Amino acid sequence: MEKCKIIAVANQKGGTGKTTTASNFGNALALANKKVLLVDFDPQANLSMSFGIDNPDELPLSMHDILTYIMDDKDLPNKDEYIQHGEKIDIIPSNINLSLTEINLRDEMGGERTLSTLLEPLRKYYDYIVIDTNPYLGLLTINALAACDSVIIPVSPQLWSATGLTDLLKTILKVRKKINPHIEVEGILLTMCDERTNLFREAKSLIDEYYKGKIAIFDAHIPTTVKVGEANYYSRSVMDFDPKNKAAIAYTAFAKEVMQRGKTGGETQASVE
Ligand SMILES: Nc1ncnc2c1ncn2[C@@H]1O[C@H](COP(=O)(O)OP(=O)(O)OP(=O)(O)O)[C@@H](O)[C@H]1O
Ligand SMILES: [Mg+2]
Repeated sequence: MEKCKIIAVANQKGGTGKTTTASNFGNALALANKKVLLVDFDPQANLSMSFGIDNPDELPLSMHDILTYIMDDKDLPNKDEYIQHGEKIDIIPSNINLSLTEINLRDEMGGERTLSTLLEPLRKYYDYIVIDTNPYLGLLTINALAACDSVIIPVSPQLWSATGLTDLLKTILKVRKKINPHIEVEGILLTMCDERTNLFREAKSLIDEYYKGKIAIFDAHIPTTVKVGEANYYSRSVMDFDPKNKAAIAYTAFAKEVMQRGKTGGETQASVE
């Protein structure tokens, strides 16, 4: 098995397509015969629900419980007790209790590395581990950044704000300096694109102007389509739900771009500040 890459999907702005991307990107990798683990690191548990876990609050062993074991320096249960296995892809689900973890992490020495402690021993089982993060630049997101090799930033052109993205990039640079020297920005993925509109074209050219030469912007764009929400509703990936759909084609192309990059990743230059 090739070396495992851990990728966080992050943007502290809400509703930019993080969860949709984590799920469909992960599934597109699995369709390319990669062994994939999804990690739900958002107390909203949207990724767990899109996996078909209807009542995440009733999980016998949630992400919060596992991280509490780690913080209490206790041995972890067998991994099959907290990893759920799907047909093609696995997940560590979360639930609302993960917001308690965020509070507990504040008092924990070296707490930024708690998720990393969980994921590092799992590298040997997977080609890719994809972490979905919550829309807040707090300790949960810092944990995800500390645990990953690279970051995918989903940006919805209509919702894009230069200052919001600059805050995220500054945080990534800080994490690189203090906790995780190897972290790279994989790139910006444009989501919910409506290519026919002037608004899309204007936002896209502004984003290009701002980040070209500093951060990779993926060639693949994810179009806006109702099939994404429908697939989600039926706990299926859009590739599985409607393989010919333009979002299915775009997520497949996006996964291919990431796989082709392999370990070289993208770049985060200090000049982005
Ligand atoms: N390509 C798309 N076409 C149509 N709808 C989409 C698309 N991508 C995402 N959506 C919808 O937009 C909404 C927000 O997407 P999603 O939940 O993935 O964002 P998020 O960044 O994870 O949000 P949060 O910040 O709350 O975690 C969802 O209802 C989702 O179904
Ligand atoms: Mg989400």
